Amino acid sequence: MRRRARWLRRAREEDERVKDRDLLKTVEEVFDPITMGHVERLIAKGVIRELRGVVSAGKEARVYWARGRGGRELAVKIYLSFTAEFRKSIRKYILGDPRFERIPSGNFRRLIYEWTRKEFRNLRRLREAGVRVPEPLAFQGNVLVMEFLGEEGYRAPLLVEAAREAAGGEILELWRDTVEQLRGIVCRARLVHADLSEYNLIVWRGGVWVIDVAQAVSHGHPHAAEFLERDIRNIASFYRGLLGAEPPGLGELRGELLECLKGSR
Ligand SMILES: Nc1ncnc2c1ncn2[C@@H]1O[C@H](COP(=O)(O)OP(=O)(O)O)[C@@H](O)[C@H]1O
Ligand SMILES: [Mg+2]
Repeated sequence: MRRRARWLRRAREEDERVKDRDLLKTVEEVFDPITMGHVERLIAKGVIRELRGVVSAGKEARVYWARGRGGRELAVKIYLSFTAEFRKSIRKYILGDPRFERIPSGNFRRLIYEWTRKEFRNLRRLREAGVRVPEPLAFQGNVLVMEFLGEEGYRAPLLVEAAREAAGGEILELWRDTVEQLRGIVCRARLVHADLSEYNLIVWRGGVWVIDVAQAVSHGHPHAAEFLERDIRNIASFYRGLLGAEPPGLGELRGELLECLKGSR
C-alpha cells in the first residue's frame, strides 16, 4: 500500500500522465487506414469506449491508455512498424512453436496479426495458470486490448524503476515474487517468456506482473531451453547487481525450471 502511494505520488509530480492532445496528434500520424479500421471495430463492439494518450512508443509497438466498459482503464497495444530485423526474429519465435505452424509466409500483415494473436493467447494461458499478467480482453488485427496496470492514466513502475526506490528487504521480496512468477510461467503455464528482464516486469498492487509476452514460446519450441537459460541469466544478473550478491536460491531455481521444461518433452 505504501509503495503504491509512493509511485502514484511521484508519477503525478512528474506529470507522466498521458495527454489527450498528444494522442490525437500521434493517432493521425501513425495509424494507417487498416489499423484505424481495427480500432473502430473495437469501438463499435463496445470494448473501447475512449482511446487516449500514448503510454509507450517502442520500436515495434505503441501502447495507449484507454477506457472500456464501465470506465475500466485499458492498455491498448498496437503493433505498427516491424523492421526487417524484427521480422526475422518473429519468424524464429513463431516458426518453432507447434501452436503456430501455419505461418503466412510473405504476407506481412498476416504475420503481424498472428503475432498479436500469439500475445493474446499467451496472456490468457499465463493468467489461467495463475501468473500475474494483465487480463487479455480482446484483439482485432494488430490491436490488442488488455487490463491497464496503473491508475488514473499513470502506469505502475517497471521493475527497473521500482527497484531504484526499494530498500534491501523490499528487493528480496521483489526477487522472491519474480521467482514465483517465473515458476508459474515455466512449470504451470508451460511456456518460456524469452524476453524476461527488468523492463518487462511491472510492480503493481504489491506484486510483480509480467508483460510483453508475444515472443513467449511453448516447451516444444526447439530453442525453449536456450531461451529459458537466457531469461534466468538476465533476471539473475539484474538482482545480483541490486543485492551485491547471488540472489538466494538461484541454483535450485535453475534446476527446478529446467526439470519442468524437460518433464514436458
Ligand atoms: N498492461 C499494461 N498496463 C500499463 N502499461 C503497460 C501495459 N503493457 C505495456 N505497458 C507499458 O508499455 C511499455 C511497452 O510495452 P511492452 O509490452 O513491453 O512492449 P514493447 O517493449 O515490445 O514495446 C511497457 O514498458 C509499459 O511501460
Ligand atoms: Mg517490453
